[in-house]
Amino acid sequence: MNFFSQYSVLNSCLNKNKTIGLVPTMGALHEGHISLIERATIENEQVIVTIFVNPTQFENSEEVKSYPQNLNLDIQMIKKASPKSMIYAPKSNDLYDSKMKTYRYEFGILEKIMEGKFRNGHFQGVATIVEKLLNNFSPTKAYFGEKDFQQLLIIKSLVNQKKISTSIVGCSTYRDSQGLALSSRNKLLNTKELKNAIFLIEQLKLAKSLWKKENSLRITKIIEENFLNNIWLKLDYFDIRFENNLLKAKEKSDQKTRAFIAARIGKTRLIDNLLLNEY
Ligand code: PAJ
Repeated sequence: MNFFSQYSVLNSCLNKNKTIGLVPTMGALHEGHISLIERATIENEQVIVTIFVNPTQFENSEEVKSYPQNLNLDIQMIKKASPKSMIYAPKSNDLYDSKMKTYRYEFGILEKIMEGKFRNGHFQGVATIVEKLLNNFSPTKAYFGEKDFQQLLIIKSLVNQKKISTSIVGCSTYRDSQGLALSSRNKLLNTKELKNAIFLIEQLKLAKSLWKKENSLRITKIIEENFLNNIWLKLDYFDIRFENNLLKAKEKSDQKTRAFIAARIGKTRLIDNLLLNEY
């Protein structure tokens, strides 16, 4: 049986002389998660997929409760994609004591902008759980999606600061045939909302084509106006930033630059990003 709810039991099954690939998730798995699991399976002798809706990265318990969950389906999907992988789906008390304390980190600008600004304490919670998982399993490599690009940079900063030897692998965003980035939160959308969610990637693609000749200020204005004319979506932010440090990019340069977007559709909040200088 390759399903574990206790860290100590899973740890005793690991072969410490073989490479370990870790794929942390919060479940409600989709093809995006599966693409990470498949890559980890190719690149490592052992694979651990974790499923844990981490309470400390949410602002309130309502958000945690409404997060989609379907453990049985998740297990089936993992077994199909990576039959030998080990699934770790613990209860909170296997990772946290009763106080559910978040560790304190200093991530500078990385946590003060975009998701950090809109979701109070979010990255402190993400870093806390990821540090616990990395320390518990000492994986050779850990896999994270570029879909959550800011999170990926936070985790790279975490392993640098804490001198954790795991290499952090960033994986490209998996999209459906229309370009919509797969997300567990898409499961919360009704049919109409799902149809309209495509607007995020459409605006990112528009930004990419405009970036050839327009500056950041002008593009931001255009996109903000487009959102004002769309009754389905409320824009939280649209930003154009350098990939390596997330500082704002004013105009086209040789440095890799991404457009980042977050918007609310009904009660659901969606994020996406796109590399701009890749023609
Ligand atoms: P979750 O949202 O479940 O995502 C788990 C991993 O899958 C993250 O690294 C995320 O970036 C990646 N992912 C999600 N959608 C993707 C897509 N369409 N294409 C490629 N990768 C995608 O992110 C979290 O969970 C949590 O914050 C976690 C890191 C597990 C800590 O609790």
